[in-house]
Amino acid sequence: MGVRIHNFNPGPAALPLPVLEEAQAELLDFRGTGMSIAEISHRSAVFEEVLNDAAARVKRLLNMPEHFKVLFLQGGASTQFFMVPMNFIPEGSSADYINTGTWSTKAIKEVEILGKPHKVIASSQDRDFCYIPREYAVSPGAAYLHFTSNNTIKGTQWRGLPTAGGVPLVSDMSSDIMSRPFDPKPFGLIYAGAQKNLGPAGVTLVIIRDDMLERSPKTLPTMLRYTTHAEKNSLYNTPPCLCIYLVQLVLKWVEDTIGGLAAMERLNREKADLLYSYIDESGFYKGTADEDSRSMMNVTFRLPAEDLEKELVAEASKNSLGGLKGHRSVGGCRASLYNAVGIDSVRALIELMKEFARKRG
Ligand SMILES: Cc1ncc(COP(=O)(O)O)c(C=O)c1O
Repeated sequence: MGVRIHNFNPGPAALPLPVLEEAQAELLDFRGTGMSIAEISHRSAVFEEVLNDAAARVKRLLNMPEHFKVLFLQGGASTQFFMVPMNFIPEGSSADYINTGTWSTKAIKEVEILGKPHKVIASSQDRDFCYIPREYAVSPGAAYLHFTSNNTIKGTQWRGLPTAGGVPLVSDMSSDIMSRPFDPKPFGLIYAGAQKNLGPAGVTLVIIRDDMLERSPKTLPTMLRYTTHAEKNSLYNTPPCLCIYLVQLVLKWVEDTIGGLAAMERLNREKADLLYSYIDESGFYKGTADEDSRSMMNVTFRLPAEDLEKELVAEASKNSLGGLKGHRSVGGCRASLYNAVGIDSVRALIELMKEFARKRG
């Protein structure tokens, strides 16, 4: 086997090594079938067991009450940007949005394209999305309140949930799902592209409260209605079987090896604290997010000059530390510390950053 790098990619991102090893061991002969999981009917009992186990693990890990359904859909989180308003804003109703960065902006753009009534009740655009807004007034009777729990590009994250006074929360949790526990009760729907904390790209986790399904208009194309997928247990059409299988293995790792979301959060907090503390004391690197809004998942920082940022990324890459370049829209550096990134990787990064600051500072 070649050397595996310290992988700080923002997504697709690092997967737990035991998951990759298990998948490798089972690839040619999936549990005695004589076929790989990618060669088996999605209607077989063998695959349904994988699907149902993955869904059951999602519910257990998130402590989801009975009246929520777990769906595995395609089209990425970006498809949820329009499926949510198409399904959930009935005639005469309007939805609230909070804009905390690139991905919220994209979600808002889709509701605009659809011409559906909506209101952006808060935004942190005034300071280039470096913080999570604290002041907002949810519209009474709003169809839902949409927010992005973790802003992958700007490196900010909601500490707690927005208070919405009974209005159902809808959240894009693509980059922090399964990283910490939270109260599921205020939610109408949660969605997350798998490629950060859940598995490979190609499947989107959607968790939906049963009563929200009643809103799905019958006039929508079949594939765009949540009811279609809920009624058929995500098997209306051929699902991405291989992706769902890898998600199942990742969930098993979080639940059985790590010990659930409270333990996962402790590990994530330790990693993030270690890196932020070093950045703050370095006098060379500078975090870009306000301290009270910093993300545990994506640590964004700058160096005194852009040339130095490029140099650090190149130096890191030479030393088997990958994925540290900031998003092309913002520049700078970003270390994504998703669930599968070990504290050893964070320590290796800090050592490299120290050495770099000593030489260039
Ligand atoms: C928070 C967030 N939402 C949405 C997306 C887009 O997801 P997808 O590529 O699955 O459509 C991303 C991708 O990085 C993201 O980080």
